[in-house]
Amino acid sequence: MVFSPKVFAALASLSLVGAVTLDTRAPDPCAAIAGKKWVAPKDVRACYSSIKVDPTLKANIIDVVNKTLAFHTSTNYQIKAPPPFTADVHEDVVASLARIKRQSYKSDYDLHIDLSRTLKRLNDGHCVWINRCFDSAFVNYLPIPLALVTESDGSQNVHIAPEAFTVASAEFPDQIKFWQDSLPFTLRGKLESLSGAKVLLIDGRPPFDAVNENAQIAGSYQAFTTRQNGFFSSYQTAAAGWTYIMGNFAQQALPLSDQATLLIQRVGHILPEIVTLPYRSRIGSAIKPFTDAASYLTNNCRAVAGTNGEDVYGFSTASVDPEDRPIAKFQQQTPISAQTERKHPVDVILDTSPLSDVVLPPILVPSLPAAPGSRAAAQFYLLKDGKTGVLALGSFSDSDYFAFLNSLLEGLISLKAQGATQLVIDVTNNGGGFICAAHWLHRIIIGPKSTTVPQAGLDTEARNGPLAQLIVKQIINFGLDPDLQLLYNPLQWNDANNQQFSANEDWLQPPVKKIINGHRDAFSQRLGQECQPSGFPSEGPATGLFDPKKVVIVSNGRCASSCSLLSITMSKHEGVKTVVVGGKKGSKQQYCGIVGGQSTDFSTIDTEIKTTHLKNHTLAPPDLLVNGVQGITWRLGFGITDPSQPEEWQDHPADVNLPVTKDLVNHPVAIWETVTRRFLA
Ligand SMILES: *[C@@H]1O[C@H](CO)[C@@H](O)[C@H](O)[C@H]1NC(C)=O
Ligand SMILES: *[C@@H]1O[C@H](CO)[C@@H](O)[C@H](O)[C@H]1NC(C)=O
Repeated sequence: MVFSPKVFAALASLSLVGAVTLDTRAPDPCAAIAGKKWVAPKDVRACYSSIKVDPTLKANIIDVVNKTLAFHTSTNYQIKAPPPFTADVHEDVVASLARIKRQSYKSDYDLHIDLSRTLKRLNDGHCVWINRCFDSAFVNYLPIPLALVTESDGSQNVHIAPEAFTVASAEFPDQIKFWQDSLPFTLRGKLESLSGAKVLLIDGRPPFDAVNENAQIAGSYQAFTTRQNGFFSSYQTAAAGWTYIMGNFAQQALPLSDQATLLIQRVGHILPEIVTLPYRSRIGSAIKPFTDAASYLTNNCRAVAGTNGEDVYGFSTASVDPEDRPIAKFQQQTPISAQTERKHPVDVILDTSPLSDVVLPPILVPSLPAAPGSRAAAQFYLLKDGKTGVLALGSFSDSDYFAFLNSLLEGLISLKAQGATQLVIDVTNNGGGFICAAHWLHRIIIGPKSTTVPQAGLDTEARNGPLAQLIVKQIINFGLDPDLQLLYNPLQWNDANNQQFSANEDWLQPPVKKIINGHRDAFSQRLGQECQPSGFPSEGPATGLFDPKKVVIVSNGRCASSCSLLSITMSKHEGVKTVVVGGKKGSKQQYCGIVGGQSTDFSTIDTEIKTTHLKNHTLAPPDLLVNGVQGITWRLGFGITDPSQPEEWQDHPADVNLPVTKDLVNHPVAIWETVTRRFLA
């Protein structure tokens, strides 16, 4: 038989296709990244995308998230938030879950992105879905964190942070050469010379296009401006010392970007240059070794100790090390145990990126001596003027609750003893922590008055769904919580008159019914103060330690949860001035966001359910089968300006917006001195 060349070519290609489909030993993309510390983001994506959706796991995740959301105070509010956040918060998450349930996905990774972004659209850092199979399992980095700098002529530009190379070479010593070698020929090996460069375009477009695109998917904060600020680098005090936050441009929790092409103008150069730098993915510290997709799934994607709750009076209560608690990795605070959290409730923001442990370069770390009382994320300094005290407070959490509260008092007293008559409180990137630590700080600075005793915080309400009501009834009727371990135990709470409920008082009855965005909803009665006396180490000083007119609260706007509780009460009750450092010129900056009242998560609610023997109720979420965390707001604080509505979506405009000039970029002492000169003097 004779074939025409055309037919022959067609046959040849057919047989080629046949050869490919016959080869069942398709390479495993997860095997390709196994055992490596640094990989290309596209290779991580190939691994993630090779994981097919398991219908059982998908249904399980949606069921757990949906039923946990019944305990989240804000679900119906977030369908359409009141002004000024109507344009920012308008997600019907229950409806979206129904959509996701129906929708099919090419891979488990695609499903995760949809689910994760759906929850992030709430712009509520308490209500976040984290799947440790993907989120920060590999972390995507660029060695050029950015800063938004106001020039001497008042114009604003995005710059590569002046300290970029110092940070990157200290944090990524084993990857710097890769980036050096990736630079275009004329710049090869000269990564350091990019530090401080003006960024004219990112991927061919004005830099704020990239900033704003990120703000659409970043989640965490209601205000668009606060989400914009998260694109840039910043600093924080943490238990381990001063840390550097790379910002969402230089650090991604998912392998979203492969490279960035920037048009830059280097310091001391006139002509713009184009550089393309690849992102590199570093394996996350929590990832367990794997060799292929199957072992990746088994070792990293399935439920672990602490994923689910437990009957606290059961025979086999496993105590999970605080460091290993799944949720603790993503709470923006020092890890604490579930037991500590039950004793000292927290209000803390979650992020798909763990708390940063990148080191702030020594040249930016305050060289002032730390005053007595300094401890972990709370550092006290006296400025060179001899009259300005500084409390740098990166968190409201600590490994020892009472030692922490005592040290806050000791630190402020020691500053006064050294001559401080005014105070700068720097809460940059403070994501919250212990609720009563915030109220204690308010109380000791201001002294005893109607706004601090007995309630130094906000009255609150919990959601009041049918299963929550049953939990309370079980506790009361069967005495199921003799050791006061459960959130729903009446003895944990005070009524609006600050009277403690008695052991058999059903505090969820009758439910307070509300219609929110057209949906029927129900809440608990108003709860009063919860910290005094037992949550405070002492009654506190008889007079305020500082005149509120001589106190300024400073941050980049990224102050959440307990940090919001402090800032809001200090600003709205006491008239303390708030300063936001940085942010887009002419935009309104919020001095805090994500107020909540108390945050918690699925595993804690599951503990309430299991301890009260309600696990087989139809409204009870099943055990989660994957390595996931679902956070919620469990109580919502009532407003100060409008006490009938939640504080969560009320306005928190900063009194002043301090532009970041070149000498202020990520430089705490320079910022405090400028704030003092401009707003305290
Ligand atoms: C979520 O729960 C509600 C009941 O609270 C139920 O009506 C709805 O169908 C559930 N949605 C999904 C997607 O399972
Ligand atoms: C499950 O429900 C049944 C009643 O439907 C009850 O008798 C049983 O004790 C429950 N089991 C658990 C473990 O709570």
